[in-house]
Order: sequence, then C-alpha cells, then structure tokens
Amino acid sequence: MTGMRALVGHGLRAGMLVVLATAMASAQPAIMRNMWEGPVVLPGTDPRAPVEDTIAVDGVRLRDRIESQDLPNPLEPTPDVLADGEQLYGTYCAVCHGQAGQGDGQIASHFRRMPDLRLPHIQENYTDGWIYAIIREGGFNMPPLASQLSPEERWAVVLYVKSFETVRPQRRQ
Ligand code: HEC
Repeated sequence: MTGMRALVGHGLRAGMLVVLATAMASAQPAIMRNMWEGPVVLPGTDPRAPVEDTIAVDGVRLRDRIESQDLPNPLEPTPDVLADGEQLYGTYCAVCHGQAGQGDGQIASHFRRMPDLRLPHIQENYTDGWIYAIIREGGFNMPPLASQLSPEERWAVVLYVKSFETVRPQRRQ
C-alpha cells in the first residue's frame, strides 16, 4: 500500500513538473524561445545545407585542380615576393623536394618517388594555378598545405618554384 502511495505521489509530482515547465516556457518572451521552437538538429546530423548557389559571406569558393589551372597569379616575381616564396618553400617544401627543387629533401628517401621540381613538365607545362592547387590540396603522398599557407603565401611559393632553372633529364645511352 505504501508502495502504491509513493507511486501516486511520484506521479503527481511529475505531473506538476510538466505543468510548471509548460507554464514557464509559455511565459517566456518569444525571443527566448528559439531553441524551443526552432528546427531540431539531431546529434551527428549535417548542419543545414546552404541555399543553392550561395556561399557564406566570409566563405571562399573551393575550386578543384582543373578549375584552378587558369587562376591568374595575383603576385609579380619581385625580389621581395621571391624572397618570401623562398623562405616559405624552405619551411614547407624543402624537407621533401629539396631546397633547390631537385627532389632530395631530408625525408625524400621515405617516398617511392619525389618529383624534381626543375623538370620541364613542371617548369614549362604547369600553370601557376595548377601548382597553386597542388600546394593547396597535395597529391597521393604529398600532404595538403592549405591550412599552413595562406592563398597569398601559396602564390609566392608558386613563383619561387617557377624561378628554378629548368633541368632536362639526361637521355639514357
Ligand atoms: C611530405 C613530403 C612533401 C612535401 C612537404 C611537399 N611535397 Fe610536393 N610532392 C610530394 C610527393 C611525394 C609528390 C608526388 C605526387 C604524390 O605522390 O603526391 C609531390 C608532388 C608535387 C608536385 C607535382 C609534381 C609532378 O611531377 O606533377 C609539385 C608541383 C609539388 N609537389 C610542389 C610542392 C610544393 C611547392 C610544396 C611546398 C609548399 C610541396 N610540394 C611540399 C611530397 C611533398
């Protein structure tokens, strides 16, 4: 019997809580009830998709490598820009590609292939935008450096890479 009474008492208390909560919620001014009335976003679900063909006001439109290949380099290869590019290259690229681009950085031997950036296919065929996109996204084994280098820094590195003298591979005899 006492159990029954406790149960009833519990039920009453719970009921009163619901009534109280409802009263409190409806007493709130509308501006405070956004969370109550807004759409429910469940944990682990994607945020609401942006409206089609729009980007956030502070957003950068992402381009893939093909789309990036014709991007014009906003910088000129002035001595200052090349000095910046050289310094950034020394920090972020030389460990793999070597300070002079010859593919002999300190950790190059850990990779199956470390491209020599002085080769004609890069120096003559790769546009600035193409190299820019490689720096941004990386490759199969090359890491993406988008979060290390700002767009302007990437363009400076591109100009530094393009300042290497082209080296033609030796024909095998
Ligand atoms: C951790 C090593 C590593 C770092 C750091 C690195 N790369 Fe690379 N890079 C590679 C490898 C390996 C490849 C060959 C493609 C692949 O496997 O991703 C490559 C490919 C490239 C290519 C294309 C070569 C080709 O023949 O198509 C370019 C250009 C390039 N890197 C430039 C850079 C520049 C500029 C930086 C610095 C901003 C940089 N890389 C930093 C490892 C690296």
